[in-house]
Amino acid sequence: MLELREVRKTFYPGTPNEKKALNGIELHLDAGEFVTVIGSNGAGKSTLFNAIGGAFLIDSGVIQLDGRNITSMKEYKRAFDIGRLFQDTMKGTAPNMTIEENLALAYTRKAGRSFFAVNKRDKEYFRDLVKKLGLGLEDRMRTKVGQLSGGQRQAVSLLMAAIAQPKLLLLDEHTAALDPATAEKVLRITEDMIQKDKITTMMITHDIQAALRLGNRTVMMDEGRIIFDISGKEREEMTVEKLMECYEKNSRKKLENDRMLLHR
Ligand SMILES: Nc1ncnc2c1ncn2[C@@H]1O[C@H](COP(=O)(O)OP(=O)(O)OP(=O)(O)O)[C@@H](O)[C@H]1O
Ligand SMILES: [Mg+2]
Repeated sequence: MLELREVRKTFYPGTPNEKKALNGIELHLDAGEFVTVIGSNGAGKSTLFNAIGGAFLIDSGVIQLDGRNITSMKEYKRAFDIGRLFQDTMKGTAPNMTIEENLALAYTRKAGRSFFAVNKRDKEYFRDLVKKLGLGLEDRMRTKVGQLSGGQRQAVSLLMAAIAQPKLLLLDEHTAALDPATAEKVLRITEDMIQKDKITTMMITHDIQAALRLGNRTVMMDEGRIIFDISGKEREEMTVEKLMECYEKNSRKKLENDRMLLHR
């Protein structure tokens, strides 16, 4: 489904600011997998999503999506197959358009139909979808999305992503800017939607508890590498404490390696 082989990206190469943001990423995702991604600040998580989404071209390696080599495909072309949500709740929607118009946009784009051909039945369909969110937004279909709260906007963005039926959904801390109760609600909507539509998903989060609870697999990144990849029984038995221990152990080991290199 998604395959990354030896993916590398260095920012500012050959300068004092050189940063190996992706340092040989190997990752294979099966269709329908829901992977949570954790790691400290600057580990390369967002850069990994940017590489997959096509925000920049990688220095070396291969990225395949659904059997197609997308390594050098333009970002806007990948966007047909890859849905993205960000921490910034303004990024996923068109703020000056209404809820109805935003959903119509996602819907007609997917169906290859004109935006202006949206009919009454389509609108009823959108309203039903919005109602299922359980946020009371079905009575505000003509409200501009820019006027909604962050949580409401993320919920609408999720709906748009679901309507567009992407092959891959990338969620980059999409609940981080929300208050805890709203974040929990949006996470529940996320989970329901992914389960129902069986969308292959990667979700970055700093909430380790949520990372272990949601989805079927968890990967941990550190310094541009995947240092940890758990699923199945190993993941079921994992606790936040054990995960922190593993992280410290892995980082310390790497620190020692770095030191050894310096001594050479
Ligand atoms: N466009 C860019 N230009 C230069 N450096 C970049 C760029 N994007 C990311 N970096 C650098 O790459 C490294 C990884 O950044 P990235 O944003 O992927 O981290 P992250 O794991 O998402 O962290 P956070 O949890 O803070 O969001 C950082 O050192 C960052 O400064
Ligand atoms: Mg990030």
